Amino acid sequence: MNILLIGGGGREYGIAKKLKEDSRVERIYALPGNGGMEEFCECFPVKATDLDGVRAFALEHRVDFACVTPDDPLAMGMADMLRGMGIPCFGPGKAAARIESSKIFSKQLMEKYDIPTAKAAKFDSLSDALDYIAKNEPPMVVKADGLALGKGVFICRTRGEAADAARELMENGLFGASGARILIEEFLQGPEVSVLSFTDGKTVVPMVSSMDHKTAGEGGAGPNTGGMGVIAPNPFYTEAVARECMERIFLPTVRAMEAEGCPFTGCLYFGLMITKDGPKVIEYNCRFGDPEAQTVLTLMQSPLLDAMLACENRTLADTKVVFSDGACANVVLASGGYPGKYEKGLPIQIGELPANVSLVHAGTKKVDCGFVTAGGRVMNVTANADTLEKAVALAYEGVSHVSWKDMYYRRDIGAAALARINSAGRAE
Ligand code: AMP
Ligand code: GLY
Repeated sequence: MNILLIGGGGREYGIAKKLKEDSRVERIYALPGNGGMEEFCECFPVKATDLDGVRAFALEHRVDFACVTPDDPLAMGMADMLRGMGIPCFGPGKAAARIESSKIFSKQLMEKYDIPTAKAAKFDSLSDALDYIAKNEPPMVVKADGLALGKGVFICRTRGEAADAARELMENGLFGASGARILIEEFLQGPEVSVLSFTDGKTVVPMVSSMDHKTAGEGGAGPNTGGMGVIAPNPFYTEAVARECMERIFLPTVRAMEAEGCPFTGCLYFGLMITKDGPKVIEYNCRFGDPEAQTVLTLMQSPLLDAMLACENRTLADTKVVFSDGACANVVLASGGYPGKYEKGLPIQIGELPANVSLVHAGTKKVDCGFVTAGGRVMNVTANADTLEKAVALAYEGVSHVSWKDMYYRRDIGAAALARINSAGRAE
């Protein structure tokens, strides 16, 4: 089978590596891929958002199945385009991708179908937003309606911060059209859980739960990023919470999408907060998370290809999807300055890694003498072990074998999860 994989980050590296374990997979064409993906894929310099370029490529090559995993091409309708060419595809069409590409769409969906989430007001005029901010108590959360590389959410402790965020989005066009409409949400508190799930539009099969670490700085400091590290499983996601999520959030969401005429197939990512009033949806993503995918998929024991095909063929209820009960920790190694400005082209030194530790390439480029940096999030170090504590320690041991000028990483990946495990242990 020849697979067309759209994208070129750490997520696509993790997906390609997993798919390549499968003897049915002959070739993976990655558009554009990255330096490290050349180990498993044939990479071609076609941008993930270049619909015409992808169409031309798919016409010229034998493609049996496509995986569209980044948000932008899904929001642009790339999965619809490929299906229209007769190529079965993993990933939702444009209408279903609105669950991520418009936070106003998803908020209205949750309100209409009674899915627990933060209360929110929607604005398309700056003066109305400023008026609302003046009349309401902080803290509040200001969110761009559209896609913003995970950076369109502002947690505002004061009215002044909220007004500044609204102006940045609506007046200064920080994220262009994505910020023309905004949401202002109540501030929720509680541990966060990411649940990536396979769905064929009816059945939902959650993967192992995980916890992302979104801010650039340690302990929740600094601006939001695409994600600075992940642990899986997430100890806050107990069996009771999982049951409640399935009944009150996961199944109601896919049923709501079907009722709205845009059934969702592919990977539906539930970003949840476990509040004192129960789990609530913070965000939906219409795709695998990055770096969640390359963490969670290391724990998948059944073939990824089977789960992906089942989503497209609507046969998920009859498909075995199995995860191990081990743990994985993933530490993102970023360019100094990320998520702001950073240098590219810096040579990367890679030493010998300990057993059960792997390097995921995210923003790297292959050169004659090795790899150089080519993005903000450059690499991830993943480690697998039978407990989370061992996986975290092993991941950091792995980090000590990689370096480049100004390499930056958080030193507290997994700290909140381990504190939870230790306090639960003491309570027993
Ligand atoms: P999002 O891109 O919507 O996932 O938001 C990014 C991060 O902002 C989330 O992972 C949360 O940490 C935080 N966040 C978003 N919405 C809220 C909210 N209503 N209350 C508290 N924190 C939030
Ligand atoms: N790591 C968060 C995301 O992929 O949206």
